[in-house]
Order: sequence, then C-alpha cells, then structure tokens
Amino acid sequence: MSKVVFRVVNHGFDEWKEAVKLREDVLRRPLGSCFSEEELSLEKDHFHISGYIDKDLVVTAVLVPKGDCFKMQRVAVKEELRSTGIGAQLLLFCEDFSRSKQVYTIYCHARDSAVNFYARNGYHGLGEYFDEDGIPHLKMKKTFH
Ligand SMILES: CC(C)(COP(=O)(O)OP(=O)(O)OC[C@H]1O[C@@H](n2cnc3c(N)ncnc32)[C@H](O)[C@@H]1OP(=O)(O)O)[C@@H](O)C(=O)NCCC(=O)NCCS
Repeated sequence: MSKVVFRVVNHGFDEWKEAVKLREDVLRRPLGSCFSEEELSLEKDHFHISGYIDKDLVVTAVLVPKGDCFKMQRVAVKEELRSTGIGAQLLLFCEDFSRSKQVYTIYCHARDSAVNFYARNGYHGLGEYFDEDGIPHLKMKKTFH
C-alpha cells in the first residue's frame, strides 16, 4: 500500500485549487455541475485536507466545523488509485486532525455507493436514506477518543 502524506492546505492557494479540481472531476462533473463561486467562498472557514503520493495529489476532503462535530464532505480519491486503502488512510488522518482540535465526532452524508466504505471504517448509519443531488445518501457518524 502506498504511503500517503497528508497536509491541511489553505483556502484560495494553489494546493486548494488543485484539490477543488480533483473533487470537481470526481463528484460534480459526472452530475453535469461544478462548484459555484458562492460555494467555494463559503469554504474559507473550513479545513481542507489533501493527501499526496510523492508530489501528486491523490485524495482530498473538507472538514466543516458543526458545533462539537466535524462534517466531512467532498471526499474524493483519484480514480485509478481507488481500493488501495487511500480512503481509509484519509479517514484516519481526519480523526487525528479532529483530536488535535478536541473534536471527537465526525459525520458525513455518504453516497449509497460509499456506505460500505464508511461502515468498514467504523462509521454507523443514522436514520433513513435521503436524496441529495439526485443520489441516495445516508447520514453516517463515528465517535472516537
Ligand atoms: C469512496 C472512496 C472515497 C473510497 O476511497 P478508497 O481509497 O477507494 O477506499 P479504500 O481503498 O480505503 O477502501 C475501499 C475499498 O477497497 C478495499 N480495500 C481497502 N484497502 C485495500 C487494499 N490495500 N487493497 C485492495 N483493496 C482494499 C476496501 O475493502 C473497500 O471495499 P468496499 O468498497 O467494498 O468497502 C473512493 O472510492 C472515491 O473517491 N469514490 C468516488 C467519490 C465518492 O463516492 N466519494 C464519497 C462521497 S460520500
């Protein structure tokens, strides 16, 4: 398994722009949409996580402060590198980062295709599936120490 080096990158800087492109390619283009200027400017108070193998960006996610939790969103692994454990490494990094901020719960709105991935990494489903962007999603949450 390749070792991924994670960094928290700054909103508006080149590393953030590169992450926006990766998640736009993975999450939005297949739906025929992209991130609006308004959505992107609202991200300035969020934590932007990027993972690299050598100098290549391979995974990205955003952690949004929500009370005493973080909401994890916009999770995307480079297509050709999926199912090699990079997503699992990202989730562990996000937990470590959360602990450093004294935050011990992360939740997300998981696409139905990603529910097994989150479940295998300790997240449990809450409530029923709901529609977001025309895709069934499940709220999933993990609390840790
Ligand atoms: C969902 C996603 C983030 C998971 O990332 P990933 O890097 O593929 O995740 P992992 O490799 O850690 O685990 C995924 C699968 O690979 C398997 N796996 C884990 N480590 C592995 C390894 N070393 N070798 C082979 N397979 C492995 C896991 O069992 C898991 O199987 P599952 O899909 O049946 O649960 C990624 O597939 C992705 O970006 N998908 C498109 C965008 C998306 O859906 N984002 C989430 C929106 S909520």
